[in-house]
Amino acid sequence: MIWSGRTLVPLSLWLLPAESEPMPGPNLRAFHETSRKLDLRQPLEFLLAEFRRGNIADSKRGGEDSAIRAHLGGLSAAWERVFPGFPACPWRRRTLTWEYHRGRRDAYLRQLIAAQVSADQTDCFLIVNPATVLGRHARALAEALPACEVIGTDIDPRGERVYRILNFWKYRGLTNYQFVRESIFEPDLKRRPAVVTFFGACGSVSDGCMDYAIATDSPFLICRTCCHDNIAGNTQVIRRPTHINRFFAFKNWGLERYKRARPGFYFSDRYRENAYPRSAAARELMDTETIVSIAQNTADSDICRSLIDLDRCLYLRENGYDVMYREELFFAHRRPEVAG
Ligand SMILES: C[S@@+](CC[C@H](N)C(=O)[O-])C[C@H]1O[C@@H](n2cnc3c(N)ncnc32)[C@H](O)[C@@H]1O
Repeated sequence: MIWSGRTLVPLSLWLLPAESEPMPGPNLRAFHETSRKLDLRQPLEFLLAEFRRGNIADSKRGGEDSAIRAHLGGLSAAWERVFPGFPACPWRRRTLTWEYHRGRRDAYLRQLIAAQVSADQTDCFLIVNPATVLGRHARALAEALPACEVIGTDIDPRGERVYRILNFWKYRGLTNYQFVRESIFEPDLKRRPAVVTFFGACGSVSDGCMDYAIATDSPFLICRTCCHDNIAGNTQVIRRPTHINRFFAFKNWGLERYKRARPGFYFSDRYRENAYPRSAAARELMDTETIVSIAQNTADSDICRSLIDLDRCLYLRENGYDVMYREELFFAHRRPEVAG
């Protein structure tokens, strides 16, 4: 057992993200009904007020936690009603251990997708996983859904190549998965995915993936965002004396060099400052300078991460999706009247 700063945690929880029992297919009718009743603008207004009052990233965490509970508690409760089984995390938020726990959230997301596809199995589904990194999640989905075709894409093929070689034997029989080298900022729009999914796509790469789902009219977008600090070309991090802050500062030191050496990796002129906020609703409440300042504070602030993700939720709504959100996870489905 080890102390997580909140409770005693079995070592196994630390070591391996567990695959829990298959979950029942989400009820899409309940999803649409619940999603439409959710007010996404009000929590954005309240959290923005907290940000403007400077009530963020408090070292004692009480301020952030109570603001998140007060203003996002309703969204999380709605999520739990429609998508039960959200993996509880024993670690304190905005810590490296919490970040590490994302593997459990990714496993949960994969189950949501598998349950949704299985429940909805009409014909062969195309699932596209941009920013696939190693192709690990894409292969696991292909293995779980043999009737589906799964394509993993990434601008950098090296991670996927290494993972393929190391797991050659495990996936020797897998025929419904393929990797395509592709920038999400210049994607192949001829494909017609039924599901667009990603498991952490840094900063504007997440926005590129969301625009890919919109542009390909994908019925489902089921994903996890990450590295909110890297939207709008930003690599600045407001410094604070925390491990996670040091981690993000070091990551951005590297990304700033990447930016110059490898154009199109992580950053794109299509997603510079003027592309943010994403939604018309958020643009009524904050300007570009504000959201970039919010991004620079995301390492140590859930309020700031949530502000960027709520803007994305409103953007998806403005582009024909009903959406639900919880702790960097998105479940979006095209509104039937839009999908036609
Ligand atoms: C580092 S991973 C993100 C992992 C993430 N931090 C997580 O929480 O799991 C980001 C991936 O995005 C890919 N990427 C960067 N720019 C891209 C682009 N323009 N198009 C597609 N993938 C891109 C990188 O190659 C990398 O594999």
